Amino acid sequence: MIVLGIETTCDETSAAVVASGPQLLAQTVLSQADEHGLFGGVVPEIASRSHVRELTAVIERTLQQAEVEPHQLTAIAVAHRPGLIGALLVGVTTAKSLAWAWDKPLVAVHHLEAHLEAPLLSEDASPISMAPPYLGVVLSGGHTDLYHVKEGDSRSRIGATRDDAVGEAFDKVAAILGLGYPGGPAVEKKAHQGDRSAVDLPRTLLEPDSLDFSFSGLKTAVLYRWRGQNAQRSGPHPDAPSVEDLCASFQAAVSDVLIEKLKRALDQTGLKTVVFGGGVTANQTLRDDLEGALSTRAQLVFPPRRFSTDNGAMIAARGLRLFEQGQTSTLDLEPKATP
Ligand code: KG4
Ligand code: ZN
Repeated sequence: MIVLGIETTCDETSAAVVASGPQLLAQTVLSQADEHGLFGGVVPEIASRSHVRELTAVIERTLQQAEVEPHQLTAIAVAHRPGLIGALLVGVTTAKSLAWAWDKPLVAVHHLEAHLEAPLLSEDASPISMAPPYLGVVLSGGHTDLYHVKEGDSRSRIGATRDDAVGEAFDKVAAILGLGYPGGPAVEKKAHQGDRSAVDLPRTLLEPDSLDFSFSGLKTAVLYRWRGQNAQRSGPHPDAPSVEDLCASFQAAVSDVLIEKLKRALDQTGLKTVVFGGGVTANQTLRDDLEGALSTRAQLVFPPRRFSTDNGAMIAARGLRLFEQGQTSTLDLEPKATP
């Protein structure tokens, strides 16, 4: 089986061709970061227009690289939720058009479920370690979600963010510190030269048994430490810590919160495997912290770092599994902004 995966939920235009395995045959990821960087964050209308401009060529090029003709495809998978509605509309409309023109089944893929499929794309793939049940952890720009994924692939969400998502906190901290967009990689880079215990920042844990997250207080604490209580000023306060120390301390606070919440989730569910996905899992320091704190309690499974951020391969891989389960969609599929 060979599946074409299409991803346009936010600011990456991506297509991939994945064969059973899952084995990646080709992938193109076109980041719009430069276009949005000028505005300090994703501008939905720019994202939609950029997808419209690029997607057809991205798909063509990816099929060529995979040396796959349309008639060889088994199905076309597309991320149809959640995301920016205009951006989703481009991917879904394109996928439906191709499914109709090429007479192929259409598979609707939930973007967050696809993030948890990304570890399967490891070159030394060991799908064994990813058989449910497991604790699924999505750490992305829009979500901080914990899922109890059960045998048979059904899942229930047992934790979510109540305000900023973890990736959003990275992006906002980067914006406060003038590090540009997207913030995650920039904060990680600065943090390498900083002292993680230099700045005392809050760890918001909510109620004692809560599996939900809140990162807005941490972000605001960074703002005050940088600009002083009079946060109206544009530059740093004279007594502000260094950017490096702030980034390292922010990252340490994020790690501590994630570790505590995952310990709670493992205690409450009795699960022994944790599967991670989402852009923030590209952060090596965070991975090391999580491994250091949790590897004696559970097996931790991360995606290869290049499949952490949004990509078509994870959509195709998830599509492949859904197709095998007989879960195809009709041509009246509609995108949805909500999870
Ligand atoms: O999963 P993703 O590509 O898109 C969404 O589904 O939201 O995640 C994007 C998020 C952004 O907030 C970005 O800043 C963050 O992932 N990110 C990182 C790193 N690379 C990307 N956060 C921390 N460290 C990184 N190295
Ligand atoms: Zn994503």
